[in-house]
Amino acid sequence: MNSKELREKFLRFFEGKGHKIVPSSSLIPTDPSVLFTTAGMQQFKSYYLAEKSPYGPNAATAQKCFRTSDIEEVGDDTHLTFLEMLGNFSFGGYFKEEAIKLAYEFLFKELKLSPHEAVFTVFEGDQNVSEDKESIEIWKKLGIKEDKIKKCGREDNFWGPTGEEGPCGPTTEIYFKNSEVWNLVFNEYYQDKNKKLTPLKQKGVDTGMGLERLALVVQNKNSVYETDLFLPIINEIPGENEKAKRIISDHVKSSVFLISEGILPSNVERGYVLRRVLRRAIRYGKLLNLAENFLIPLAQKVIEIYQDIYPEVKSQEADILTVIQNEEEKFEIIFEEGLNKLHDIISWWSEIQSAKVDEINKRTGELKSHYNDMEDAKELGDKLFLLEQSYGFPVDLSLEEFEEFWKERIILKEEVIKFINEARKKHQEISRAGAEKKFGGGGEFSPKLHTATHLLHAALRQVLGDHVKQMGSDITSQRLRFDFSHPQKMTAEEIKKVEDLVNEKIKEDLEVKKEEMKYEDALKSGALAFFKEKYPEKVSVYSAGNFSREICAGPHVKKTSELGNFKIIKEESSGAGVRRIRAVLR
Ligand code: SER
Repeated sequence: MNSKELREKFLRFFEGKGHKIVPSSSLIPTDPSVLFTTAGMQQFKSYYLAEKSPYGPNAATAQKCFRTSDIEEVGDDTHLTFLEMLGNFSFGGYFKEEAIKLAYEFLFKELKLSPHEAVFTVFEGDQNVSEDKESIEIWKKLGIKEDKIKKCGREDNFWGPTGEEGPCGPTTEIYFKNSEVWNLVFNEYYQDKNKKLTPLKQKGVDTGMGLERLALVVQNKNSVYETDLFLPIINEIPGENEKAKRIISDHVKSSVFLISEGILPSNVERGYVLRRVLRRAIRYGKLLNLAENFLIPLAQKVIEIYQDIYPEVKSQEADILTVIQNEEEKFEIIFEEGLNKLHDIISWWSEIQSAKVDEINKRTGELKSHYNDMEDAKELGDKLFLLEQSYGFPVDLSLEEFEEFWKERIILKEEVIKFINEARKKHQEISRAGAEKKFGGGGEFSPKLHTATHLLHAALRQVLGDHVKQMGSDITSQRLRFDFSHPQKMTAEEIKKVEDLVNEKIKEDLEVKKEEMKYEDALKSGALAFFKEKYPEKVSVYSAGNFSREICAGPHVKKTSELGNFKIIKEESSGAGVRRIRAVLR
């Protein structure tokens, strides 16, 4: 049975059992405490709590999921970053007995898999939550022999919550060929931010089964990469290194899906994760000596496999391919130089390691093979972070090159990672301070030009369109300089229109008001933001009448009439797709 039939069979089965079929939600969740959708239940999280489900008590989905928690394992037989999770859910409808029976019926009656080939696990209990005897009894009633039912602890058989808090509970899981295929979660508790469990008023069910792993079992393969969800991609990649081919095919697939959701490679948050998987794929491509732009035909294969199910990959095809190609070209330019730098770091590290070990052994007369020195760990952390900043070599990739040094030295590796994180934090603080100074926190430059910058920004968006985004700003006592995204040179007419509009708003003598609010509320209220990641939780929003509204540290004038007359003195290019305006007040 191919994966399309399998997905369809799952959904129709549960539809037939009174479940509402709900489309997959976006890979970008609404819960701000998590970066990605990693489980099918996320879109339903609130229905396990007080909110009433608009779908009725039972739902089923095939959900796009993306997770990097297993990225190191990608390339084995079962781990992936992008996967589709088949799930049935109940919010106060049914509970353990029904859920287990449904799973049993689907696997062993509908798909006719053999229960003898499966192993079942249940929660063994701990000091907070008791052993799940009920599930054991239900499985036994269905004819599962006791020796096929294993009890496991919290690590394995307790799931959730996603994000900082939420519903969670014990699980019972079904394994085939030693890997977990279906996870049945019984949401009985609410875990708060302090990890305290409180029983939920209404119990719920959340199940998740990776379509890829199910296909492995049903199609009788040894690896998810041999199923029809991967084979067409793998077959496009020449070379013998099976693991590299698997990693590339997984990463190109997740990149296609991430980009189809509007995520672009960058150095922060989701963009950083995308950059990491894309560059990891490119890096493995280089190991296989693949030609430049090798990812393009692979991405096209991904689109071919999924276009009927997830039309967004097809409708965004042009963008997806452009983004991938741009990133590949960008990485290409700096790759060799970065690799040389990385090799320099590796030689430096191995030299100081052996020199110091020799020294210690000489001094103490012992025969040590290694030593742990935190100062060196810090220096290595700083160097690897810098390599990422200057050459875009993701630190986790660089760390992989150090694998042989980490053997027996897990603690040292963890120290290095800690120092990398510290370096990253420090860097973010510095750039935040820089941004505040540059964009208003310093308070030492003209509030008039500052307010004029906001009016200019709003006017540009009105005249040229909403694609205009602030890319940079610099204000001296004499003039303002404003960089913004726009694909072509502005015409004389457009420049005049913008200038006139700003002057009109100055004449209207709009009141400039400041409000303090949470960053998210500011965005919701329509305020323009710049460099999303650099804002504190609470921000100031400045608005000039109904014309302009921006998150900004100020300072600003009280009334726009204070500005006098606004004049654009220059419009020029400032890099690809970015224009620069200089303007003055007279
Ligand atoms: N939420 C559980 C999981 O992700 C079951 O859907 O495994």
